[in-house]
Amino acid sequence: MFHLRISSSTDWLNAVMGDFDTFLVDHAACERKASATGMAFVVRYPDRLDLVDAMIGFAREELEHYHRVIQEIIRRGLTLGPDTKDVYIEGLLEFIRKPSDERFLDRLLVPAVAEARGTERFGLIANALPPGELADFYSDLTESEARHHGLFLSFAHRYFPKTVVRDRLSLLLDHEAQILQALPIRAALH
Ligand SMILES: [Fe+2]
Ligand SMILES: [Fe+2]
Repeated sequence: MFHLRISSSTDWLNAVMGDFDTFLVDHAACERKASATGMAFVVRYPDRLDLVDAMIGFAREELEHYHRVIQEIIRRGLTLGPDTKDVYIEGLLEFIRKPSDERFLDRLLVPAVAEARGTERFGLIANALPPGELADFYSDLTESEARHHGLFLSFAHRYFPKTVVRDRLSLLLDHEAQILQALPIRAALH
């Protein structure tokens, strides 16, 4: 597990805990998009069956998370709105280069970093929630995100030399920290 350059702020955690209903609606969208990311790998890299196999499992797990969050949204009587742009993810995607090999590596590293941030943030939420079913769910998510982080990183290492992965990851972590610092504080995952 690599280290993110900066930690999430207390202000961010307070914003989430202060308006958990709003947070849940955003969180649901993040899970849905994560699942779609997994299926995008399946479509883009049909020649890499080991990756296809892993990404189907990943997409299914993210879809289960999405369903679980939706069930909580229903239980609370909340409603979903139209899809909104995730500035954090959009910023990370700008890091992806055009040539196909570089593109493949960057496409693996971006979710690796996003999952690492998810690990950190869900862990903070799990600790802040009162003990109970919801706190347990966020603890499970924390473990799941850590696993996903490892999954994307292991594929980067399977297909690219260690030094290439390390150098590119280092740049991406700098980039991620800049994006995070510029984000407005709101009741959202990012
Ligand atoms: Fe998830
Ligand atoms: Fe995940």
